[in-house]
Order: sequence, then structure tokens, then C-alpha cells
Amino acid sequence: MSNSGGVGKTTIAAHLAYSLAKKGYKTLVIELDQQDSFRLSTGLGIADPERSAAKIFQPDFKGDYPIVQIWQDHTENAFLIQGGAALRETPRAIEGYKRRYYILQDRLKKFPLDFDVILIDTPGGLEPFGTVILPAITHLIVVVEPDFKATTSGGLFLEWFYSNAIDLDLDPPPQILGFLPNTRQPEIAAHAKILDKENPNALPAILQEHETRCFPQIKFSAEFVNASDPSVGLPVFVYRPKAPALKGFTPVIQAIEECL
Ligand SMILES: Nc1ncnc2c1ncn2[C@@H]1O[C@H](COP(=O)(O)OP(=O)(O)O)[C@@H](O)[C@H]1O
Ligand SMILES: [Mg+2]
Repeated sequence: MSNSGGVGKTTIAAHLAYSLAKKGYKTLVIELDQQDSFRLSTGLGIADPERSAAKIFQPDFKGDYPIVQIWQDHTENAFLIQGGAALRETPRAIEGYKRRYYILQDRLKKFPLDFDVILIDTPGGLEPFGTVILPAITHLIVVVEPDFKATTSGGLFLEWFYSNAIDLDLDPPPQILGFLPNTRQPEIAAHAKILDKENPNALPAILQEHETRCFPQIKFSAEFVNASDPSVGLPVFVYRPKAPALKGFTPVIQAIEECL
């Protein structure tokens, strides 16, 4: 999740999914975003509206999740439910559902999915999907851009998270696995300053006050941009496995594995 768009959520979800799948975990990504950027990471076409994640929220949903296999030349374990424009109607479907924000949790309980890991890729901004996701998940990763706004937006995110966890009476609430800074631009001095572990005003220290982990950053790499060419449709792990920026995923994968 994140409170803004374009921070790298989809790129990160795709690389985590690939890496977990390669480690042998049967992994599903649910893309709850009308901007279906996962297409770019997989080379898939636009999903038929009847075969997008919007289907899960329809009143007559009977458990036939529209799952497609992805990257099958490289792994047997990676699957996706695509997002797309049909999700524009989903907030209305949620409004029509008596238990509102519990709709996704209810669907997953009633129609369980047989996967080792399910990653939910969200749109930028927190409402309404953020509130629908909270009751349905066990853990969350907050992607942030390391700019000087990061401490403020991190604080706002935590405020939103804790007030919703209380309002929704989540017991237990999902756990924040960590904030994950993603550096979408070539390194500048400000990045080091914002992520400086020793600086009490920098992001790691602010998060520490809330007992929230800050993962080391995912560094800028032009390879991520190349990988979002739909004619490539493969994670950087496949064709540039030695790209230094991939190291950033290691602690995140480790933290996820510790939860399994
Ligand atoms: N670490 C990075 N280095 C370089 N480019 C990146 C990095 N992370 C993401 N990008 C690029 O930034 C753009 C937005 O990323 P995306 O994952 O779609 O963001 P979001 O899902 O948060 O909207 C994409 O073109 C992606 O290739
Ligand atoms: Mg996205």
C-alpha cells in the first residue's frame, strides 16, 4: 500500500511475487487497481471486465476467481487476478454490500484460495480500497518515495492505519511488515539524508518511534523501467539477475518468509 500513486507498488509486487514463486511458494497477486499496470510486468492483454478483480466484488460472486498463470516459462508457481477499468464500479458494489468494508474478508473466508502467499497490489491513495483490504490481510508493506515529504506521509499513513484498525475492530489488526523506500530517481544527496539511520528526524527514526521497521531502500535502476515494457513482460530477476537494485528485495523476502 501507499498513500500516493507512482511510488513503485506494482513494480515491487511483481518482483516479490516472482521471487517468492521461484522459491517454491505458490503465489497469487490480486491487482485491485483500475490502472492495470501488472499487464506491463507480465505482457498480458487487458483483462475482460468479467475476468478482472472487479468480479470478486459482484453480488453474485460464487468463488470462481479469474486467475491466470504468469511467467510460466520461468515458474509454475506465479498467478494473477488482473485489475482493470471494471474496478471503477467496485466502490458502488461495496456500498451495496451490508457488511461494506468486510466484503473482501468475507469472500476470502467463504471461498478460500489455495496459495502459500497472496499479495494484494493497491492503487495509490487509501480509500475505499485500503479500508476494504485491511480486514482481509495479515501483513502490509508501505512503499514510500524517499523525499522530504516521506516522514509526513509516513505519519499520516500510520494515523490512517491505526484509526481504521480501531474503527473496523480488527482483532488482531494486520501487522505492518515495514516501510519500503523505493528510489525511483537516480541517487541524490537527499535520499541518504532522508534514510539516515542516525538522524533522529529521518524516516527510520520516526518509524522506530512507532515500532515500525524501515527496510533498506530499493535503489534506482533503469532496468525496472525496461522491465515495464509489455513486450518484455518479465521481472528484472529473469534477464538481469545481477542488477544491484535487486538486492533490495532480499530483506523483504526474508521478512515475508518469516511469516509463512
Ligand atoms: N527502483 C526503481 N528504479 C527505477 N524505476 C522504477 C523503480 N521503481 C519503479 N520504477 C518505475 O516507476 C514507474 C511507476 O512504478 P509503478 O510500480 O507502476 O508504481 P505504482 O504501482 O506505485 O503506481 C514505472 O515506470 C516503474 O518502472
Ligand atoms: Mg500500481
